Amino acid sequence: MIENIIGEYSRKISERMWNLPDKGELESQREETYIDDIIQKNHIERKLLENLQGVHTVFDAGAGCGRFSILLAKHGCRVTHFDISRPMIEKAKELAKQAGVLDKITFVKGALEELDTYTDHSFDMVISFDSPISYTFPHQERVISELIRMAQKRIIISVTSRLGSLPYLANPIQKNQFILDPHAKDPFVQWLLSHKQKAIDAFHFEKSEAEKLMANGLMGGQEEITEYEKGGTPWCITYTFMPNELETILRRQGVKNIEMAGPGAYARTVPHELLVKIMNNPDQRADFLDFCYTYDSNPYVCGMGKDNLLVKGDL
Ligand SMILES: C[S@@+](CC[C@H](N)C(=O)[O-])C[C@H]1O[C@@H](n2cnc3c(N)ncnc32)[C@H](O)[C@@H]1O
Repeated sequence: MIENIIGEYSRKISERMWNLPDKGELESQREETYIDDIIQKNHIERKLLENLQGVHTVFDAGAGCGRFSILLAKHGCRVTHFDISRPMIEKAKELAKQAGVLDKITFVKGALEELDTYTDHSFDMVISFDSPISYTFPHQERVISELIRMAQKRIIISVTSRLGSLPYLANPIQKNQFILDPHAKDPFVQWLLSHKQKAIDAFHFEKSEAEKLMANGLMGGQEEITEYEKGGTPWCITYTFMPNELETILRRQGVKNIEMAGPGAYARTVPHELLVKIMNNPDQRADFLDFCYTYDSNPYVCGMGKDNLLVKGDL
């Protein structure tokens, strides 16, 4: 019952959050700010570039400020950049213009819950990265089916990982581990730093919360709804996937050659001081990112990605 009410609010909450005016600007700086984002985007970029054979047209679902739509346009693809947020699309247009690929990208403002106007197999490859699908609760499974329907050759997506998200419930300062520059302009960095001690002092492990997330996969609920109703901008209600669940959805739709990965699984074992030391040394950084790609591509660690679960498959 409560899940029906959450379902009614989930899209409205997500739409308000992603349409905050400074969202495009902040998201476009994430790779300068957080080490986990560098690792995750680097992993996705490599995966994409390894899978471009025969790919001329791409649909990027929840394309944000263009991290991958622009990359693929630079590699000669025609890309449909689809997103629910006007500020993200505006930022993506600005970056595409700077990269000289504006004419290779079609920008569309729309919601993943409504893809029925796109015909079957209309893009060589369909991609969706860094959780847009997880924000469509309770429609996440139907959205994946729609994205598969639209793909001709290949699908590569990343969703929020349930096993990867559960450690947050025992570690409220996990994101601090990945701050690259403590002087970054991003207000969230300053918030994380100034609230670190408070977060530790207030921390109390709630076994029942962990068990609930493990069982139903849902992050967010009544608290977010109340905040939204008061005019606030809570984080999106997020559906987290188990690796086997995601694999089963893809197999059921006839997807073959499935490969799963958990970007960030290796890095989450490394303390902050050492991560910063590695990332600030260009040679070490390149070697580390190479090895993260190898380790995080092992299907046995995919669930422990931080926080995404990546899957590639062929049609
Ligand atoms: C974390 S960002 C990821 C952006 C990009 N894919 C990347 O990896 O850099 C999530 C994006 O999904 C978009 N999004 C969220 N819910 C959506 C929905 N229901 N339909 C379309 N886009 C959505 C947001 O506006 C945001 O741009």
